[in-house]
Amino acid sequence: MICCLNPNCENPQNPDGTNFCLSCGTKLIPLLRNRYRIIAQLGRGGFARTYVAEDIDKLNEQCVVKQLVLSQFYGSQGTDAHKKATELFEREAKRLKELGEHVQIPNLYAYFKEGEYLYLVQQFIQGQNLLQELKEQGVFDEVKIRDFLHDLLSVLIAVHEQEIIHRDIKPENIIRRQNDQKLVLIDFGVSKQKRETTNTALGTIIGSLGYAPIEQMQLGKVFPSSDIYSLGITCFHLVTNIAPSSLWMKQGYSWTSSWRQHLKQHISHELELIIDKLIQENHEQRYQSAQAVLQDLNKLPRLRNTLPPTVISPSVLLETQPQVQQKATGYLSFFSNTQLLSGAIVAGTGSSFLAIALISFLGTTWISSGLWLLILAGLVLIQSRSLVEKTYLIIIAIIANLLVVLSFKNLLTQNLLKSGINGLLLVVLLVILVGFLTVIIVGMWEIINKLISKYF
Ligand SMILES: Nc1ncnc2c1ncn2[C@@H]1O[C@H](COP(=O)(O)OP(=O)(O)O)[C@@H](O)[C@H]1O
Ligand SMILES: [Mg+2]
Repeated sequence: MICCLNPNCENPQNPDGTNFCLSCGTKLIPLLRNRYRIIAQLGRGGFARTYVAEDIDKLNEQCVVKQLVLSQFYGSQGTDAHKKATELFEREAKRLKELGEHVQIPNLYAYFKEGEYLYLVQQFIQGQNLLQELKEQGVFDEVKIRDFLHDLLSVLIAVHEQEIIHRDIKPENIIRRQNDQKLVLIDFGVSKQKRETTNTALGTIIGSLGYAPIEQMQLGKVFPSSDIYSLGITCFHLVTNIAPSSLWMKQGYSWTSSWRQHLKQHISHELELIIDKLIQENHEQRYQSAQAVLQDLNKLPRLRNTLPPTVISPSVLLETQPQVQQKATGYLSFFSNTQLLSGAIVAGTGSSFLAIALISFLGTTWISSGLWLLILAGLVLIQSRSLVEKTYLIIIAIIANLLVVLSFKNLLTQNLLKSGINGLLLVVLLVILVGFLTVIIVGMWEIINKLISKYF
């Protein structure tokens, strides 16, 4: 196959041996610079086209060729837009040269002008970008998102150490390398060095809508925390499969404060807090460095089934783990999600008190049951939890309350709240009983989960 280098060509693929493009008639270049055979187009950005090519001087090793398309899109030489695009492209080459030593950033092989275009040749990374992976494999779960953060934060630390801000972190610009599954950061086209002046010509939007933070979009200012924002938004996209640009267009930056609403899977409260701090609208309230995010990430409680095999000698264990402490945390550590447990106890006991009050005053009517469900749902829904957790809480409260109401039907028909001290004591006992029942239900759920993950 030979690929047409006319950036406007709608169907650039041509069979070998063709001299003129079958689609647009442009003369085909069999070997760019007598060295690179362009095979296929990988991407069409604002001012650049990206191709996969073979380097015949390196035994046909694959490489990526990026072509800067200026005149058609940005007018003739000398215009501001033309200069800006050339500058960004040259910047990408420089950054790749400086950073290309890092194993998770592609190497720069060449940078040259040929005909009316500028070209940049870089190492080909075999694998899929994370947008393709998301489409194929679906949303990232907590284990995968933590791994993603660990891996990419170490690259960001290296980038920021060189005083470079990437400014376009998003799933499409991160490739999972096939041979070692490591993440590789690409597309340094709009990256810039911290010490450079930060004036952005008006009208030149640098970064991607929805992923770029407010200071970058509105003032053209960037800090390491600007990349951290885009990283957080990338996490959001990967855990929800919702393109942030659509939310940004509808609600501007305000959508980020209620991002949890869009979650359709459970992620731990601790990880939610980290994502919260990544995507703060005010850059001063975000994490200030990739290192700081990594530190918090390392403090997260381990997830089930992800414990690394650690061998500790029994003597060390005896010296460092006082028995009393082990016992105190032992029961709680049975529950992998203590936030869910506490939420369930509060929802269960609170709603049982509400149920008794409603039965006392309205009797066991459809109206009192409906009212009870409405108030319970309202109270759970206003909490800042994921949708999955909210649903769990409502289900657990319904089961626990149903069990008690059905078992003590006769007692509940009397107006307990108006039956003096004995009635009130009974109410307290029933509420405590519901509390116990919620603990048992959450515990049973844990056991079922453990059995499922053990045998399936
Ligand atoms: N070094 C590379 N190795 C493999 N694929 C790449 C490489 N660079 C880019 N790509 C692919 O081409 C697409 C477009 O490249 P990118 O550098 O992001 O340009 P654009 O400016 O069009 O966004 C990427 O999303 C990725 O899938
Ligand atoms: Mg890109």
